[in-house]
Amino acid sequence: MAEKKWWQKSVVYQIYPRSFCDSDGDGIGDLNGISSKLEYLKELGIDVIWLSPVYQSPNDDMGYDISDYRAIMKEFGTMEDYDRMLHKAHGLGLKIMMDLVVNHTSDEHPLFVESRKARNSPYRDFYIWRDGKDGPAPNNWGSSFGGSAWEYDEATDQYYLHLFSKKQPDLNWENDAVRKRIFDMMTWWCDKGIDGFRMDVISLISKVPELPDGETGKNGYGDFTPYCANGPRVHEFLREMNREVLSKYDLITVGECSGVTVEEAKKYASVSGSELNMVFQFEHMNLDGGESFKWNHKKIRLTELKEVMSRWQTGLKGKAWNSLYWCNHDQPRMLSRMGNDSPKYREVSAKMLGACLHMLQGTPYIYQGEELGMTNYPFTSPDEFRDIESINAYQELTEKEIFSHADAFDYISYKSRDNARTPMQWDDSPQAGFTTGTPWIAVNPNYREINAREQMARKDSVFHYYQKLIALRRQYDIIVYGDYELLLPDSEEIYAYLRTLESQTLLVVCNFTEREVGYDVPDGFAKKEGKVLISNYERTEIPAVLTLAPFECIVVLYGQP
Ligand code: NOJ
Repeated sequence: MAEKKWWQKSVVYQIYPRSFCDSDGDGIGDLNGISSKLEYLKELGIDVIWLSPVYQSPNDDMGYDISDYRAIMKEFGTMEDYDRMLHKAHGLGLKIMMDLVVNHTSDEHPLFVESRKARNSPYRDFYIWRDGKDGPAPNNWGSSFGGSAWEYDEATDQYYLHLFSKKQPDLNWENDAVRKRIFDMMTWWCDKGIDGFRMDVISLISKVPELPDGETGKNGYGDFTPYCANGPRVHEFLREMNREVLSKYDLITVGECSGVTVEEAKKYASVSGSELNMVFQFEHMNLDGGESFKWNHKKIRLTELKEVMSRWQTGLKGKAWNSLYWCNHDQPRMLSRMGNDSPKYREVSAKMLGACLHMLQGTPYIYQGEELGMTNYPFTSPDEFRDIESINAYQELTEKEIFSHADAFDYISYKSRDNARTPMQWDDSPQAGFTTGTPWIAVNPNYREINAREQMARKDSVFHYYQKLIALRRQYDIIVYGDYELLLPDSEEIYAYLRTLESQTLLVVCNFTEREVGYDVPDGFAKKEGKVLISNYERTEIPAVLTLAPFECIVVLYGQP
């Protein structure tokens, strides 16, 4: 086995600062709010905090459009607040992982402001400028947030590329000076003492130079993915980044890699350490996608979910390291997607999903509120959408009559990223204890039932269950390093798998339905003395034929530790 690393045993917790905790009553979460909640995270037991962007930004895409990489967003506080937060976190033994958004900047970044001034600007080539073609744009690519991926700039009569919003121009990574500036900025943060980077859409930084047209989708635009995801020079760029910056510090790094395959991941996250530690893959998140991108009500089929998870579990074995996640700031709440968010099943299904993920091989990521079983938001009107992706999608889908208003609203309400971005539910006081002011996005009305204060005081809460899942990982090497084997690949009801390490075996059984389901414990295991490590129905032993209760999960360890 390759050398063991601290981040392999770690559990990461993602904070979306805007929605975590507001200390000054302006309705927007901030750094002092985060500082005030570090003890809570310590009690949960996590090791690393991934902070979604806190840099200066005009917030077209909520901080993923950065105008100054060495300054803090005004609404979030000051650099002194940041330093205090970092210092306090370190004092508590918590590490801080920064979001690194360098596929694009904000159009308000001084470099882009300079770049757009003239065709002969010394910074012109820092971004991707092209003449229009017959089209009129340089090619047919659509942006991830709707419309063309090209914006016409009248002053110089050229177009610039933006794979996301038009306020997020793509940087030109082919330019050596661009890479140098990025690496210098990263070094500046590392010297400050941060502990790692989560790299935003890092798989998109190298484009096929010819920028060919993509296959046209339902919205009339071409798909850029084949020409941008895992592009020709991406590994070369990341190896350079590793040499110039990452290798000089002891960091945790994860690349957000849309379009990544198992084969590609072996390069990005090779155990040789030449690029990154791990990647976020999207195959499991995209299983309910369809012709109109993600906008539908399709349910993820359990057999397909298991196939994807298992392929990654076995595919990376010994070659690269997995990341594990159900939720983040871009996804609807998994509890509302694969679990059941009704009061009757909310807690058991949240616990089952937690166990299913946390017993897998890889580094688990918890998204704020997941440890409480927070749910999707009950939208009643499109006016409640705050996210640029949802707002643009609603407009485009209805204007182009791809869906009726009712259907578009329904689909977007279910899949909107805003579902994950409603404020953290701290207690049952007004605005869930998130702010004393008016929150920038509505609080989920279920905060009176679902909140941290109530759950911390109740032994059988989702919070305490997550606390235990994290503690188990720390206690048992088999959870971190054991081999993985899928059982019952064809079941649409049960996700069961084995982990093995030396003489130990771990059996994990999860019922993904709200029905009772019979399960024959694999030969040999029923008779063996097993120790139940965790269960969501207080089961203490495992009979030969198990009738799993709705959303029941059970984790049993066999063999001597
Ligand atoms: C991925 C981020 O997670 C998402 O929130 C953002 O909108 C895009 N990248 C563009 O930066």
